[in-house]
Amino acid sequence: RIAYVNGLYVPHAEAVVHVEDRGYQFADGVYEVCEVRGGHMVDERRHMERLVRSLNEIRIRQPMPLAALGVVLRETVRRNRVRNGFVYLQVTRGVARRDHYFPDPETPPSIVVTARAADPAKGEAVAAQGIAIITVPDNRWERVDIKTVGLLPNVLAKEAARQAGAREAWFVDRDGNVTEGGSTNAWIVTGDGKLVTRPAESGILRGITRTVMMEVAEKLQLRVEERAFTVKEALGAREAFVTSATNFATPVVRIDGQSIGDGKPGPVARALRENFHKVAE
Ligand code: PDD
Repeated sequence: RIAYVNGLYVPHAEAVVHVEDRGYQFADGVYEVCEVRGGHMVDERRHMERLVRSLNEIRIRQPMPLAALGVVLRETVRRNRVRNGFVYLQVTRGVARRDHYFPDPETPPSIVVTARAADPAKGEAVAAQGIAIITVPDNRWERVDIKTVGLLPNVLAKEAARQAGAREAWFVDRDGNVTEGGSTNAWIVTGDGKLVTRPAESGILRGITRTVMMEVAEKLQLRVEERAFTVKEALGAREAFVTSATNFATPVVRIDGQSIGDGKPGPVARALRENFHKVAE
């Protein structure tokens, strides 16, 4: 395997960043995860736009023009011979002596790109079964709209899920409303067949998959309501599911040990999953 690190393609096993990288010391950086399918990146443009937004929000300068970044991403995918899998891109505020203040503006941001193959059959098997999730208090900061590498609450939530025999954790805000998953957006299907997901204006990352799924829903003539929903409503929902670049749409069949609907993946989540790649670019 090959990784791209600050201008060089190096063997993955030897791909390192400096101990004084601000990503390492302060989680002072942002990232993107993009699906690779048939050798092509899915929704690359949207991922790049969100990366630029994340960089702007935390005032890291754009490390290189987007066209050049696209070349690096494609070259990393190519060198790893990834047909199906994922590409990971991380940009941090660079290497500087540890000091909370921003470093000298001349400090170049650090860029890392990795790519790995993933067997689509594995994801299909998980989706065919449906996943269990748990709910946990949302103890994250308010700027979860920024895709930062500061993911400790997400790491702790997802590990708690795993220890409970589940795959994902849904964060719940102080009003009892679900915000999103540790690495996914959260959705339910109401008794009258409407899709419900939280508005992207507060409490969540605006998932690219979430945005594309809205288009898929429209094509399938499903109605989408962007509003908050509670855990209680989710427990009584006809279906629940999660979306992300790594999950597309994956049905949720248990929440905190309680079955959702008939306890099996529902038709709406399945239809969204099946049609996702017809709409995604
Ligand atoms: N996670 N919410 C959170 C907190 C996420 O970390 C992610 C993505 C999403 C879904 O966004 P998108 O549809 O653009 O993938 C929502 C990536 C996959 C990760 O951290 O691995």
